[in-house]
Amino acid sequence: MTAGIVSVGCYTPPRRVSNDELSRVLNTSDEWIRSHTGIRNRHIASDEETCSYMATQAARMAMKNAKISRKELDFIIVATISPDYRDFPATANLVQKELKAGNICSFDIKAACSGFTYGLVLGRSLILSGAVTTGLVIGSEKLSAIIDWKDRSTAVLFGDGAGAVILRGGNGGEDIVDSIMRTDGSGSDALYMPTGGTSTPFKLDKTTESELYLTMDGQRVYNFAVKVNVEVVRELMDRNSLTSDDIDYIVPHQANYRIIHAASKRAHIPLEKYYLNMYEYANTSSASIPIALAEMDSKGLLKKGMKIITVGFGSGLTYGGNYIVW
Ligand code: ACO
Repeated sequence: MTAGIVSVGCYTPPRRVSNDELSRVLNTSDEWIRSHTGIRNRHIASDEETCSYMATQAARMAMKNAKISRKELDFIIVATISPDYRDFPATANLVQKELKAGNICSFDIKAACSGFTYGLVLGRSLILSGAVTTGLVIGSEKLSAIIDWKDRSTAVLFGDGAGAVILRGGNGGEDIVDSIMRTDGSGSDALYMPTGGTSTPFKLDKTTESELYLTMDGQRVYNFAVKVNVEVVRELMDRNSLTSDDIDYIVPHQANYRIIHAASKRAHIPLEKYYLNMYEYANTSSASIPIALAEMDSKGLLKKGMKIITVGFGSGLTYGGNYIVW
């Protein structure tokens, strides 16, 4: 039995914010952001464009592309670190409501920028267990709501959006052939939300404004990201007897051009194999890989039988990837 991606969809907010626009409110410049990250624009959600709204829009597009009705869905998985509600209900529950799907299994996973790669493994496992046949795996993020817009070292890096895929079981054809899901929890303090959890709840008189937002040690995350990008891609290639010539595309988490450039050099894989679109959307965490897949699909780049590797890394520190036959 196989379980593969039969369609993709995405939603990105119409509001597009350029580096120049940011440099009017922050002590930064287009030159610094481009040269350090490759990012030129990001899309920022309005109040109405919640995480669940963007997830639902991306899901609708994927369902339309696969001609799948809401009644055919057996599960909804949403990967996100910026859910509508911090703890519960899950954003996937809100998507289930909006789509008017049946009373199916719907839950969130929190694996930061590796969330979508983890979600594909979970969706595939549900299908291969025989319990279900068809479902949605969605990455959706409203990171603009959890970043400190006064902190130039993080504010310039992130954007909002959602991407979704329909996973379906079959016998041959599309397949998620192999996957890696890993964590190095010793780096959990390199990228985290300082307050709001039960270990450090908000305290009206004690919590400072900067503690409300994402905190990152950029250099630590950078070094980790380059290392695990190489590890995941090389291991998936070795385990499946693939050379870089056999791979049509590597679709990495779109955090930073320099990370991908360094990883491609270290892995001895031509940069042209990597599909990059952080120029336009910046880092949309768990949404970045499915948004990239949806963009590739709309450009006609994805053909049946193509061999694709995804690779994600992020807070946790989590990392992972998938070897996919399209
Ligand atoms: N504009 C102008 N100057 C800036 C800016 C900015 N936006 N941000 C930082 N600087 C300054 C710093 O203050 C510093 O100045 P100083 O030398 O006078 O002290 C200088 O630029 C260099 O700063 P560094 O932090 O050393 O810059 P670096 O080259 O490491 O680039 C960056 C920073 C882009 C964040 C890099 O470390 C990186 O990409 N890290 C990985 C981040 C990442 O991918 N995170 C997402 C993970 S995904 C997830 O799970 C959500």
